Amino acid sequence: MSTKPDLSVTIAGVVFSNPVIAASGTFGYGGEYEGLLDIAALGGICTKGITLKPRPGNAGLRIHETPSGLLNSIGLENPGIPAFIEKELPRLRKLGPAVIANLSGSDIAEYEAGAALLNNSSIDMVELNISCPNVKAGGMAFGLDPETAGAVTAAVRKALPHKPLMVKLSPNAPGLAAIAHSCVNAGADTLSLVNTFMAMAIDIQARRPVFDNVTAGLSGPAIRPIALRMVWELWDALRNPANPCKAVPIVGMGGIAGPEDALEFLMAGAAAVQVGSATFARPPVMNEIIRGIYVYMEKNGMRSIAELCIRGG
Ligand SMILES: Cc1cc2nc3c(=O)[nH]c(=O)nc-3n(C[C@H](O)[C@H](O)[C@H](O)COP(=O)(O)O)c2cc1C
Repeated sequence: MSTKPDLSVTIAGVVFSNPVIAASGTFGYGGEYEGLLDIAALGGICTKGITLKPRPGNAGLRIHETPSGLLNSIGLENPGIPAFIEKELPRLRKLGPAVIANLSGSDIAEYEAGAALLNNSSIDMVELNISCPNVKAGGMAFGLDPETAGAVTAAVRKALPHKPLMVKLSPNAPGLAAIAHSCVNAGADTLSLVNTFMAMAIDIQARRPVFDNVTAGLSGPAIRPIALRMVWELWDALRNPANPCKAVPIVGMGGIAGPEDALEFLMAGAAAVQVGSATFARPPVMNEIIRGIYVYMEKNGMRSIAELCIRGG
């Protein structure tokens, strides 16, 4: 019997050639990275957050480096969903990996209308962003409360009958388990986490916050152990006998910068991982991660990604 590892994973009916997906907002619409890494070898690409109408994004500084981390306050700059479908999607589709559209909006009506357009496009899956900390309306505001998180998930689910739905959770929510339950009960096929942590920096020369919005989102290796703990806890929360809920697949992320990091998330119960900030520092990092997972599995006689999970049950 061959022990050649098979890295493919199927999440909500979508087949990914391996469990490594480019995280939203750190990989543009894919084409921006052509020539810098082997894009066709990735499992999936998650687009920058897109909204029904185009957005200019936030004024002022948008990126600030911190020890082992990155603060960003982009503010969902994007061309709008109709322009995404017309101009970006055809090129993105040709790159090879599965395509996930990261959907955002200011209110439920905007989320719904955006979802309806994506429903008739060639994307493979929607990642519903209810966790962006850098916009004044919508975004994270929907992801902090079980009731609103459930309402927006239900509305998008209805407007998106033909596509699988992943809901991206906020690490800033006080009760993650209740929000996760609410999203799953409202029709989420899979959950991803974490988005960035609310944080800030002060320019001590100017004596004012670095960002015009004051706060920004923290990502990168600095958040990894916390993100890992949240994936671990979410896995348990989805299997809590006192609060039954469908144990949907989890896509984990937060500070993954090498194969060992990705393996930790897969062992904690994630079905796949996303990689964001690390790609800025080293564009081929996702190729290295895929290779490293393969080598680990081969060395340990594992044939499927599911065998990496240490959670049992
Ligand atoms: C510059 C930047 C832009 C981002 N934009 C989005 C976005 O549009 N939508 C979204 O859901 N997450 C966005 N994120 C969050 C990432 O997808 C990811 O959840 C987070 O950065 C943690 O992963 P990492 O530590 O590997 O970067 C962004 C992150 C960064 C650094």
